[in-house]
Amino acid sequence: MAIQISPSILSADFANLEAAAASVPSADWLHVDVMDNHFVPNLTVGVPVVEALAKVATQPLDCHLMIEDPDRWAPLFVDAGAGSVTFHVEACAAPVRLARELRSLGARAGMALKPATAIEPYADLLEELDMVLIMTVEPGFGGQEFLDVCLPKIERTAALLAGHEADIWLQVDGGVSSENIERCAAAGATVFVAGSAVFGAERPDDMVRHLRHLGALT
Ligand code: DX5
Ligand code: ZN
Repeated sequence: MAIQISPSILSADFANLEAAAASVPSADWLHVDVMDNHFVPNLTVGVPVVEALAKVATQPLDCHLMIEDPDRWAPLFVDAGAGSVTFHVEACAAPVRLARELRSLGARAGMALKPATAIEPYADLLEELDMVLIMTVEPGFGGQEFLDVCLPKIERTAALLAGHEADIWLQVDGGVSSENIERCAAAGATVFVAGSAVFGAERPDDMVRHLRHLGALT
């Protein structure tokens, strides 16, 4: 599967998200971190900002919902224009029902796991999904250090996904950079979120292409 890069706008200039999107034309997606100050100790953007960004960005939006009650809120992000909506399984009451609803509305459905959440209990649900997101930091903030302890889970998830006929993407998010993207790709990840690595770079779009190149080496 081709390597995809999804820059996280959490590390971009929130006063000018249109310019942030325009600064990474090579990006496959734009990753939007939605936080509610309940599921995580931070508060970011919600449906209205996603709706506005969807109108001006050329890339599809990859919304990562770090919120309580995604069963209620996630469908609204599809209505707002997101191409992919990822909910945290730790917060979700009915992941199969929600994934089916997101897909029926026309979006890709993703399921995210925090570092201490195992993939194995969800093995039978995977065919309901378009993507699994393995967090490689505790969700809540950009700029944190990549947690190597998550690599074995990436490998185990990739092995589970390989047993399915459907092309279910494996995304990693948190501290991803040119230092570790090759190890993530070797473990089986194919979609890479990078916030500070991309928007902290002097030329963000060059970094997007550099990361994609490194991710494809393995
Ligand atoms: C963390 C977010 C990540 C974060 C990535 O809770 O889900 O998407 O913004 O930023 P970096 O790449 O700086 O860790
Ligand atoms: Zn994220």
